[in-house]
Amino acid sequence: MIGQPISRVDGPIKVTGRATYAYEYRQDEAPLYGVIVTATIGRGRIQEIDVSHAERSPGVRAVITHQNTPAQGARDESSPVPYWRARPTLASPRIGHYGEPVALVVAATLEQAQAAASLVRIAYAAEPGHFDFMANAERAYAPKQLVFGLPTDSAVGNFDAGYDSAPIKIDRQYNTPYCFSQPMEPNACLAVPRGEDLVLYVSTQIVDAARSSVASTLKIDPEKIQVVSPYVGGGFGSKLSVHSETILAAIAARRLNQPVKVALTRRQIFHDVGVRPTSIQRIRLGAERDGRLVAVAHDATMHTNPQEEFVETSALATRSFYAAPNRLTRHRLVPLDMLRGEDVRAPGEAPGLLALESAMDELAHALNMDPIELRIRNEPPVDPERNVPYSERRVVECLREGARRFKWERRQQQPGTVRDGRWLIGFGVAAAIRVHPQGPAKARVRLAPDSTCIVSSDMTDIGTGTYTVLAQVAAERLGLPVDQVRVELGRSDLPASWGSGGSWGASSSAVAVYRACEVLRGNLLATARTDARSPLHALDSKAAVVSEGRITVGDASESVSDLIARNHPDGLEAEGESTPMWADPNFGNFSIHTYGAHFAEVGVDADTGEIRLRQMLGVFSPGRVLNAKTARSQLIGGMTFGVGMALLEEAVVDQRSGAFVNCDLAGYLVPVNADIPLIDAAILDGYDDKANVLGVKGLGELGICGAGAAIGNAVFNATAVRVRDFPITLDKLLPALPQQI
Ligand code: MOS
Repeated sequence: MIGQPISRVDGPIKVTGRATYAYEYRQDEAPLYGVIVTATIGRGRIQEIDVSHAERSPGVRAVITHQNTPAQGARDESSPVPYWRARPTLASPRIGHYGEPVALVVAATLEQAQAAASLVRIAYAAEPGHFDFMANAERAYAPKQLVFGLPTDSAVGNFDAGYDSAPIKIDRQYNTPYCFSQPMEPNACLAVPRGEDLVLYVSTQIVDAARSSVASTLKIDPEKIQVVSPYVGGGFGSKLSVHSETILAAIAARRLNQPVKVALTRRQIFHDVGVRPTSIQRIRLGAERDGRLVAVAHDATMHTNPQEEFVETSALATRSFYAAPNRLTRHRLVPLDMLRGEDVRAPGEAPGLLALESAMDELAHALNMDPIELRIRNEPPVDPERNVPYSERRVVECLREGARRFKWERRQQQPGTVRDGRWLIGFGVAAAIRVHPQGPAKARVRLAPDSTCIVSSDMTDIGTGTYTVLAQVAAERLGLPVDQVRVELGRSDLPASWGSGGSWGASSSAVAVYRACEVLRGNLLATARTDARSPLHALDSKAAVVSEGRITVGDASESVSDLIARNHPDGLEAEGESTPMWADPNFGNFSIHTYGAHFAEVGVDADTGEIRLRQMLGVFSPGRVLNAKTARSQLIGGMTFGVGMALLEEAVVDQRSGAFVNCDLAGYLVPVNADIPLIDAAILDGYDDKANVLGVKGLGELGICGAGAAIGNAVFNATAVRVRDFPITLDKLLPALPQQI
């Protein structure tokens, strides 16, 4: 059952519109509508705010500004994982970036709130701000640490000496733009007061974090907050933390003692939900003539907003990916008065491998060596930084299997030499690595006398397939058909998980469900052994087989439902918990990651420079797979994000204010079906016994990692032009294209 490509159990209710999302919940009492007013300067303070016109506007019930918000808790920067922290909103007249919320207008209808929001008059004392990343790059500083307390820099051997001695050198700078998560469903919250308590229907990736964040912001007991989030229309990092919609809906609902709904508009998402930092990444590779690396350095410099420091771990993968005796990685931050950074779709590896895997391609070209061969020559026997074994590393297998399936022999080593009519044809490859974080997740599993099974956890399903994979785990361990398992998720009264994020969701929660099932199974067998009325009485339960709703020991057999009905008329339940990475010695003793290889074929119009993806293949080694269909969907979705990073996605800054100019999905381009003609993901069947008892690792973000580099490398192979300033757009490519005919 585990691994089977079954279709999503929540598919039918989603496609028939019966899955309810945060903003859609209805209450007996009609909700009020909140509309957020945002700052139109990039830095400074509110000098005067006149809400009198807005307050007198029809239907308006409240206008909330920094002058009348309740006292709020401060962000606790000491907690290493930010999503649980307080998120003070409208807490001061200071403006730290363009688009920061400055008021919430609450009215009886959405239209009344929108109309009144336009009547809030604000006088700002604007201050000159820093908005230009490149112009401020020399102001970079070293942050104290990375997420999870990882060190900012790392050094092994002597990079400078190794690099100087290397006969072949690559020293390149790659630039990556501001990028956004932008899921379909906007960040939204309906806050409903219930006496002293507060119910929050909120679109969140982590229910427990949403509850904690609201509780510490509003200084109320978390027990008084109930978060409900059974369906989430995508997250990609943008809903790991709650934002102004949730905090302000909660403040307004408590003040007015009525339900209040707030959703961010698409433009507001672009200006107040964090952005992937823009970055400069300098990669230096020093190699012997046979391709063996002697020195690797990755310097990642990115922007941050000084009020809320965020470091993307872009150079992290370089610490463990390739063998080289001399290694150096550094992360630096450039303080700008721009929107703060947050996690966006495979934070770290996504931009990091865009740079590293492009540089590896440049090295292969300099050596006149096949880029797959170059990577194979640099395959490390152990994690080169930590000097510990890998738990399961199959990069070479992914590269070889991909080469076979993709017919890599079609590629010419000499770039710019293959044509198909007016199209220049190129092939690119890149390898993939992604961290496997494991969180503390709990789950409860309950068997009812009718032998239906209920799995419950506050875990979320952000479109990834959580409902389905958790049902599969329980069905397998308890020997039930999958349609007899009901999974309830996304409520804070259920056992707490780490939610969905960083590719830790499915594996952490699946382990919790598995462990709960193990306890339940043990209790079930103990019940059979001690029940004098059971045909299994006193039999050796070690020999028991639990399958298709029956327990069988040798010739004796009884149905699970009879056994439970007789002994546990209220049902039998058990809880399970995953072991977080910091409590599992395997995470110290082994290097635990997921791996893959990307292959891309592109055509570049020789006259116009138009780039069309022709075909893309990923081969991945993510450990054991919980569901082959949802896994493949995740992977090709990630690869599609890679196409966006390579060719399309870029938020452009208005240098006067730090606003994003193309702040909607007409101007901020993401790949659509027409951009993705042929795409496939193959998964190498695996089992990582060091990761956890199920052998499962995260794969949600693996498909993104390296995908963009494979596209860029294919563009180079097609044209002999290397664009290092992402995304690779026509304006950058065309002037360098060789003159044709
Ligand atoms: Mo992910 S960007 O950690 O949801």
